[in-house]
Amino acid sequence: MTGRFAGRVAVVTGASRGIGLAVAQRLVAEGGRVVITARKQDALDAAVAQLGGSSVAMAVAGRADDEAHQAETFERAAEVFGRVDVLVNNTGINPVSGPVLDTDLEAARKILGVNVLGVIGWTRQFRRQLGGGSGAVVNIASVAGLRPATDIGVYGVSKSAVIGLTAQLAAENSPAVRVNVIAPAVVKTKFAGPLYEGREDEVVENYPLGRLGAPEDIAAAVAFLASEDAAWITGQTLVVDGGLTLAGGV
Ligand SMILES: NC(=O)c1ccc[n+]([C@@H]2O[C@H](COP(=O)([O-])OP(=O)(O)OC[C@H]3O[C@@H](n4cnc5c(N)ncnc54)[C@H](OP(=O)(O)O)[C@@H]3O)[C@@H](O)[C@H]2O)c1
Repeated sequence: MTGRFAGRVAVVTGASRGIGLAVAQRLVAEGGRVVITARKQDALDAAVAQLGGSSVAMAVAGRADDEAHQAETFERAAEVFGRVDVLVNNTGINPVSGPVLDTDLEAARKILGVNVLGVIGWTRQFRRQLGGGSGAVVNIASVAGLRPATDIGVYGVSKSAVIGLTAQLAAENSPAVRVNVIAPAVVKTKFAGPLYEGREDEVVENYPLGRLGAPEDIAAAVAFLASEDAAWITGQTLVVDGGLTLAGGV
C-alpha cells in the first residue's frame, strides 16, 4: 500500500458502515486521517476504534441534510486535524421504492434533500474551508443514475442529479477543486440487502465478473479519484459495476 494520503485529511459522509467505512479504511491504510459522519454516535464510535482510534479518525454525528451539521463537521475537523483536503459525499438514502409518480412527495423531498442538496451543502462547506487551497471531491451516485431504473424511480433520479451536479461543480470549481463521481452497481451492504438477499445466485447471473461488489471495490476507486494519480481528471463518472451495464442491465 502506498502513502498517497500521507499528511492529508478527508471527510467521508455516511461512514459508520458499508461503503463509507471501507473508504475511510482505505484512506487511513494509505496514510490519511479521516473525519467520518453518520446519525448514530455509537456506531461512529465503533468505526473510529476500528479505524485505529483518535490519532487517525474522528466522528461527528448528525443528519447529512442538516446544514448546521455540515458546518460543524468542517469546524471540528479544522480544530482537530487542521484542515480538510478531500471530501467524499457518500451518504445516500432510498427509503421508498416504486415508480416516480407513485412516490409520496414528502418521501421524494427527503431523498432529493439528502442525496442531492446534501452534496451541494457539503461541497459548499468544503470549498469555504479550503480558502485558496486545492482539494478533491468524490461523489457516490449509482448505476441507477445512468438510465431509468426499475422500482427505484426517485432514487435513480437523485443519482442522475448527482452525476449532473458533479460535472457542474467540476466546471465551476476548476482548477482548485477536482470533482468526480462513482456509479456502483449492487455492493453487499445493509443498504443493498433487499436487492440481493435470498437470491444472490440469481442476481449475480447479470454480472459478467461473476460476483456482487464489495465495499472495498468502491473504496479503491474513491482512493484513486481522490489521489494525485487522478490529478488530470475532473467532472467524470467512473462506473464500478462488475460489468453489469456492459451486459445491458441496471
Ligand atoms: N450498496 C449498494 O449496492 C450501492 C449501490 C450504488 C450506490 N450506493 C450508494 O452508496 C452510498 C453508501 O451506501 P451503503 O450501501 O454503504 O449504505 P449503508 O451500508 O446503509 O451505510 C449508510 C451510511 O450512511 C449513514 N446514513 C444513512 N442515512 C443518513 C442520513 N440521513 N444522515 C447521515 N448519515 C446517514 C449510515 O449511518 P446511520 O444510519 O447511523 O446514519 C451509514 O453510516 C449511498 O449513497 C448509496 O446510494 C450503494
